[in-house]
Formats: sequence, structure tokens, C-alpha cells
Amino acid sequence: MNLILSIESSCDDSSIALTNIDTLEVIEHLKISQESKHCEYGGVVPELASRLHAVALPNLLEKLKPYFEQIKEVAVTTHPGLSVSLHEGVIMAKAVSSFLGVPIIGVNHLMGHVYSLFIEKQEQLPILMLLVSGGHTQLLRVESFNKMQILATTIDDSVGEAYDKVAKMLNLGYPGGPIIEKMAKEGSRDRFAFPVPMQNSPLVAFSLSGLKNAVRLEIERLGEGITHSNKCDIAASFEYAVIRHLIQKSKKVFKSDASRYFAIVGGVSANSYIKDNFKSLCKEFNKELLEVELKYCSDNAVMVGRWAIEAYKNGNINTIEDINVKATKRLNVGDLLEL
Ligand code: KG4
Ligand code: ZN
Repeated sequence: MNLILSIESSCDDSSIALTNIDTLEVIEHLKISQESKHCEYGGVVPELASRLHAVALPNLLEKLKPYFEQIKEVAVTTHPGLSVSLHEGVIMAKAVSSFLGVPIIGVNHLMGHVYSLFIEKQEQLPILMLLVSGGHTQLLRVESFNKMQILATTIDDSVGEAYDKVAKMLNLGYPGGPIIEKMAKEGSRDRFAFPVPMQNSPLVAFSLSGLKNAVRLEIERLGEGITHSNKCDIAASFEYAVIRHLIQKSKKVFKSDASRYFAIVGGVSANSYIKDNFKSLCKEFNKELLEVELKYCSDNAVMVGRWAIEAYKNGNINTIEDINVKATKRLNVGDLLEL
């Protein structure tokens, strides 16, 4: 077998995978999530994340020793992410590449999320995508592995960040997304009339900070006496405002986009309420909704390896000296994601 070893450590998940370069079959997918360690802080603490990666990654790699002779290339996330966390993966990738004498490929984490859609599958391109994670909220038009254009982006917080912050304000723990989604199912979405962001603006952009503040004010108003039922209603009303915002702005892009396929990728794409609403939008615009397998919605090394297989086949290989944690520029509408 010709295998690619891929490493992901951009935030709080230590993950390593092996994928067959020729058949795209996932051979191994190992992941240690640090969520419980960061939970008491209500968010990811970078130095703690980096220390935990330094212990977890070598332990995971040890398990893959029997495959070493079959590894033909190494891929690692180099940007964007927490630099101290990325560093741990990059150091290990360089060591393995040098030890085995195989090429190394640096991967943009966002391009990895895009390719989470094509794990164990051929690409279906061009495609319109909504990338919603803890760090990013972007509508992208994806033409190929190295041509992904930003059509809309958030002007402040990302969607995942808003879920996490609302959960933190309600003392519900981290990550907030899955908890808020669960509580929203028990609550009433009409209880609080939170504002739909940028509802009257012609801009095709996202914004979550105003909504987050409206939620904060309501929590303050309820004060000490806030009940579980109040929290469920806040979760449901918040999620209802989020989905109306995402659909309203995406609809503007759907109207002018001719691609046959649409997908939601990134950690927030695990949310079934968001997915169901986009299913209806796709129906209205005659687009086919492609779905990422639930286990690949959040950060993982398999998506990093899947993107790198395309890069490898197209000769997009780096040298060990080239590979470093990259600082990322703020990108605007019209820009291409950077390799
Ligand atoms: O892609 P990801 O694993 O990491 C980043 O690249 O940021 O996304 C993590 C984000 C977190 O903010 C988390 O709260 C959110 O995805 N998330 C969700 C759900 N599951 C995870 N947000 C809403 N609903 C969910 N079910
Ligand atoms: Zn991610």
C-alpha cells in the first residue's frame, strides 16, 4: 500500500491518520480530544493545548509504527490555528518526513475542512460551501484543491464562537455547540425575539457579535433566578436567529451561483437543525446537498490527508525547510484561500 500519514493539531484535537493514496481508503484514524481539559476554563487555553499535544501526538504515532515502510508522504496542518498547537504537529511531521525520507506537504486547515466532504470519495466540483467552525464563517466557491474563493465572510465572530460564548454565559461548559443544540430542542424559539443580524443590510456578510450581546443582556435581565427552562428558551431563540441570518445571507449567493452542489463543512455542520434548514434551501434552488460524515465534521487528520493526496498528485510538495507554522492574513471577499 502507498500511504499518506497526516497530522492535525491546530486547536484542541490531537489527530493522526493513515490513508491509502491510490484508493482513498482510510486505514487508521486516531484522535485524542482535549475538550474535557479545557472545559473548566470555558474555552481553549493555547499553552495547555500545546502541552497536551506534545504528549498525545507521539503516543498516537507509536501505534502506527507497523505501517512506517508503506508511508510515501507526510502531511501536516500549518495554518490557520493556535501557533503553539500547530507547532507540535509541524515538529513531528518534519521528524517523520526526515526519518523516512519522504516528501512533506503543508496543509491549510480550512482546505482540509473542505475536503472532509471527499473522504473515501472522488471530488464533486465545482461546489458552493458554507464553512462554519470555531474560528471561521465563510461562504466559498470551490473549483479545485487549490482554488477556493471567499464569497462572504464574518465581519466579527464566527458561528461556532457565538455558540461557545452563549454556552459560557449560561455556564453550560465547552464546546457550546452541541450543548446549545440539545437544549434548543427542549426550548421555545419564540420566547425571546433576538435580532436577526444585518437583516436590513444589502451586504452579503455574516455578523454574530450583536446577537451575542442581545443574548448577554437577556441573561443579565433574568439574573440569578434563571432556570433550566429559561436557558432552553434562550438556546432555541438564539439558534433561530442564527439560522435565519445564515439562510438570509446564503440565499443572496444562491441566487447568483450556478453550481450543482452545496455543502456545509466545519464543526458547526454537525448541527442537524442548521443542516435541515439548508436542505430546504437547496431544494428551493435545485441544488444537491452533499453531507460530511458526522465523525469528520470536527477537526481530524483524515481531512488533512485527503486534501494532501490531491496536492501530492498535482506535484504540490514542500521541502522540510519550507514547512513552518504560517501566520495568516485576514482575507476578504474575492480572495482565494492561501496554500
Ligand atoms: O471545526 P471545528 O472542530 O474546529 C475549528 O476549526 O474551529 O469546530 C469547532 C466548533 C466549536 O465552536 C463548536 O462549538 C462547534 O464547532 N460545534 C457546533 C456543534 N458541534 C460543534 N456548533 C453548533 N452545533 C453543533 N452541534
Ligand atoms: Zn476546524
